[in-house]
Amino acid sequence: MAKKDLKWGEIGFGYIKTDYRFVSNFKNGEWDEGALTEDENISMIECAGVLQYSQSCFEGLKAYETEDGHIVAFRPDMNAERMMNTCKRLEMPPFPKERFVKAVIDTVAANEDWVPPYGSGATLYIRPFMFGSSAVIGVNPAEEYQFRIFTTPVGPYFKGGAKPITIRVSDFDRAAPRGTGNVKAGLNYAMSLHPIMIAHREGFAENLYLDAATRTRVEETGGANFLFITKDGTVVTPRSDSILPSVTRRSLMYVAEHYLGLKTEERPVYFDEVQDFAECGLCGTAAVISPVGKINDHGHEICFPSGMEKMGPVIQKLYDTLTGIQMGRIEAPEGWIQVIK
Ligand code: PLP
Ligand code: COI
Repeated sequence: MAKKDLKWGEIGFGYIKTDYRFVSNFKNGEWDEGALTEDENISMIECAGVLQYSQSCFEGLKAYETEDGHIVAFRPDMNAERMMNTCKRLEMPPFPKERFVKAVIDTVAANEDWVPPYGSGATLYIRPFMFGSSAVIGVNPAEEYQFRIFTTPVGPYFKGGAKPITIRVSDFDRAAPRGTGNVKAGLNYAMSLHPIMIAHREGFAENLYLDAATRTRVEETGGANFLFITKDGTVVTPRSDSILPSVTRRSLMYVAEHYLGLKTEERPVYFDEVQDFAECGLCGTAAVISPVGKINDHGHEICFPSGMEKMGPVIQKLYDTLTGIQMGRIEAPEGWIQVIK
């Protein structure tokens, strides 16, 4: 077994086929045992629930090679739980937590050679997902489902890695009150494709979405939660029932309080107060923590004092501590690191 010969430092956030993926099917009310396969293709009926009514959901987490040469995954149990919640909301059959974690371990272990080397800047992205696979024509949930996990080595989600990005305030809403914003449904991302393309065409990296009901509060971006740092060093993150409960954000709030001794607040964040913060970052599995240097609100620019050259000091400390925990340089809280090899 030998690491694949990739230019690890140069890969972006895209799909690279790895050797094995896990597949399990739900039929007659139960999940089968599941197995690893080399086949990356899926064949299904034209009338499948996922194709007609977008009955699909997914997760995202990462595996790392640690400083001492182990392969680990970060908090897969949290993704398992979130996917179970998503499934309930979408009338899909939850994939049991222990089986989810075991399938992550087995899939990563089978693709060991694709785990980017320690220090390369790349990681192995793990994508569990589920979709309605049987025929549906009246608006109903499917009777059969497929759960899969594939892996792909990835580099930074935003071009430029740790360089601050500029985002814009979107005129579109991401999630309705009492809608599906707090679960990881594929449909949340389908609706974001038009706004993200507008943002990209105008030269912005992402969209800041406001709450749909009042458009006064900050929600999140298309693929990450917000962290703000006040001028006196408090870490603030928006509270809302319509944002995705990010595993990275929940981990960072813990790190801020228990590792760095910072004050933390999870509360509604009004767009009006954003100009008063010292630092801003986007956090998520793909984004890790991406510093935001500027927010463009219909031509009016909010420029954070941390600037456009590098991360602000508090976001940098949070980044260093979280990645230190993930890569085995800093002792992790109990249960955060799933050793695979
Ligand atoms: N918010 C949205 C909309 C996302 O798609 C993601 C990515 O999973 C996140 C936040 C970050 O969540 P996590 O830290 O669990 O990856
Ligand atoms: C992740 O961070 O894992 C995500 O799912 C974000 C996605 C939009 C790439």
